[in-house]
Amino acid sequence: MSKTPRAAIILAAGKSTRMKSKTSKVLHSVGGRPLLEWVADLAASAGVERTICVVGEANIDVNAKARELGLDIAVQEPQLGTGHAVDCAKEALTGFNGHVAVLYADTPLIEPQTLEKVFEALERHDVAVLGFEPEDPGAYGRLMTDGDELTAIVEAKECTPKQLETRLCNSGVMAARAKDMLSAVARVSNDNAKGEYYLTDIVEILRGDGKSATVVHASETEVMGVNSRPDLALAEKAFQDRMRSRMMQAGVTLRDPETTYFSWDTEIAADADIGANTVFGPGVKIGADTVIHPFCHLEGTSIGEGANIGPFARLRPGTELADETKVGNFVETKKAKVKKGSKINHLSYIGDAELGEKVNVGAGTITCNYDGYNKHLTEIGDGAFIGTNSSLVAPVKIGKGAYLGSGGVVTQDVPDDALAVARAKQVNKEGWAARYRAAQSKRKAKKK
Ligand code: UD1
Ligand code: CA
Repeated sequence: MSKTPRAAIILAAGKSTRMKSKTSKVLHSVGGRPLLEWVADLAASAGVERTICVVGEANIDVNAKARELGLDIAVQEPQLGTGHAVDCAKEALTGFNGHVAVLYADTPLIEPQTLEKVFEALERHDVAVLGFEPEDPGAYGRLMTDGDELTAIVEAKECTPKQLETRLCNSGVMAARAKDMLSAVARVSNDNAKGEYYLTDIVEILRGDGKSATVVHASETEVMGVNSRPDLALAEKAFQDRMRSRMMQAGVTLRDPETTYFSWDTEIAADADIGANTVFGPGVKIGADTVIHPFCHLEGTSIGEGANIGPFARLRPGTELADETKVGNFVETKKAKVKKGSKINHLSYIGDAELGEKVNVGAGTITCNYDGYNKHLTEIGDGAFIGTNSSLVAPVKIGKGAYLGSGGVVTQDVPDDALAVARAKQVNKEGWAARYRAAQSKRKAKKK
């Protein structure tokens, strides 16, 4: 039996006034990724063959992001309710003959396996709605059930006092056969407390057609929606807690989980050991047995196995550290490819650089990579020894096994195995200091 094709409609036409932001709500991020991208990725995880994003005319930034994500776009103008929003996607669904799920762009934390259950419920029912039991049901739509069957969704404003007591609420996610969904939204009326076309009315409409509906259950944190900055902070916290627990379950040691911050795509192998107060921006991969000491900030960085990082290291995008490398305190790296066993232990900036194996970079070494217009490369061969307080003026190549004397300003390439001394020669003037002191004391005495 071939699987029924799937599609998703993401509702993103809302005005998001409560964010008080010039940026549309769904472009604010959780775990370093915009809400809309979380939801688009969720849809993709279900193997959908198309995803339609419903946007308002004013949401120019959402429109651009949706295009960038490869979503189809349906414009809803004006916004007359969730049912109307789905109706606006009908043209984009032309020719589609499968199951369609409605997702909200402001609900980023739904797990792929939960959406999968919603689609799977369509094997036995015609409509599946994702429900949950919140602490405080407040303004959520209430799910009316009769055993396994969902009989209706009643918006809080339309509920009788008795119906309001129902704890089971509508998350907003629902799925049905596309032709049922579209035929039902076309029949929704706006004769209700808000004067809106409620998507939720389709449950009763389709049941009137003799179809059946059911509820799939989710946890409250999964379906938490973002409407304001406090909500955004709550969603971020929920995401971080989820990542912390996943990392530890996968064998990563977190010394102080509450102060370790991940991005949506952070990958850390088992037996890595992560110190307190470390922040992982997007694009970080860390190998087994690597230790990250406290207070490090990493983004766009990959680290091999058995490396030793920090404390207080800042690893910026394009940093690639091979196995058994060491990057110590107050070191900043950017676009730095460092091969096995090399060390940059103290107070250095290594940017636009390629280091071979077993290079030793002395304290205070700076790659001078920028001339005010362009960035230039510094190359350092295997086994080279860079003396303390060296300035490497790029483009420059240090040969394999070469030595740089401390305090050099290196502007020329250094051959393999050479010693480069790039500083003024030291001059000692015998007795000079004593003569200087004597002369100064005499002058002072005269003035008195
Ligand atoms: C909706 C549900 C409610 C559910 C709650 C969960 C309806 C009628 N009610 O209520 O049962 O408990 O979500 O959070 O569906 N949107 C559009 N176009 C519109 C209106 C809304 O795209 O014309 C989008 C919004 O941007 C948002 C989503 O649809 O992403 C939900 O809309 P919202 O008005 O917040 O619905 P609720 O009243 O919260
Ligand atoms: Ca809402």
